Amino acid sequence: PTPAGVIRFTVLLLTLLSTWFILQTYFQHSWKAISLRSWLGEHQQKLLRHKCGNQKSCPQDYFAFKIISGAANVVGPSMCFEDLILMSNVKNNIGRGLNIALVNGTNGELLKTDAFDMYSGDITKLQTFLQEIKHGTLVLVASYDDPATKMNDKVRAHFTELGSSVVGKLGFRDNWVFLGAKGLMSKSPFEKHIKNDKETNKYDGWPELLEMEGCAPRKMD
Ligand SMILES: *[C@@H]1O[C@H](CO)[C@@H](O)[C@H](O)[C@H]1NC(C)=O
Repeated sequence: PTPAGVIRFTVLLLTLLSTWFILQTYFQHSWKAISLRSWLGEHQQKLLRHKCGNQKSCPQDYFAFKIISGAANVVGPSMCFEDLILMSNVKNNIGRGLNIALVNGTNGELLKTDAFDMYSGDITKLQTFLQEIKHGTLVLVASYDDPATKMNDKVRAHFTELGSSVVGKLGFRDNWVFLGAKGLMSKSPFEKHIKNDKETNKYDGWPELLEMEGCAPRKMD
């Protein structure tokens, strides 16, 4: 080969090498940019937390809620409404039996909370409480330990009127979570019930806890 040929070959080789180098660096950078962007995107999604820690956000004119029943007679229930904890162990406003929170169905304001011992408590106290609920009120219920021993027909009728389908079947140490409304003309879609059954119980004398989250329409009727 002539010296000119060697030089031409070297120049060609160098050009090819540098082109490859530049392209390679360019793509590496853009790949990094892309993966950085998707990484940031994923993180942003994780940071975007829905009310009450729910899976989905709620449309306008719906209230986000999450109701968790007690676990055996050990861990108390909890209720979240529009990202506000209404009842919980920490709030120190729960008790064995039925835990009930009343919320204004128009503006979502908490009206009151109370816990009713259904094993040895005064059932007329619950009767009066249910009787006084005003039209348009949302009613959130979570069981803890035993929701049913003292249950009577009057109380069952009140819960049925609030939209419950299962209150008639509620038994000793069953778990029950429910969201209904006074003046509801149909059955509430927000209800879960699990029987206390030795064969299927998660704990010794109790079934597993129930968890229910969703979006309750403003003015449920
Ligand atoms: C709910 O709030 C509205 C005002 O936003 C009020 O007019 C209504 O009386 C309240 N209802 C109850 C049951 O507290």
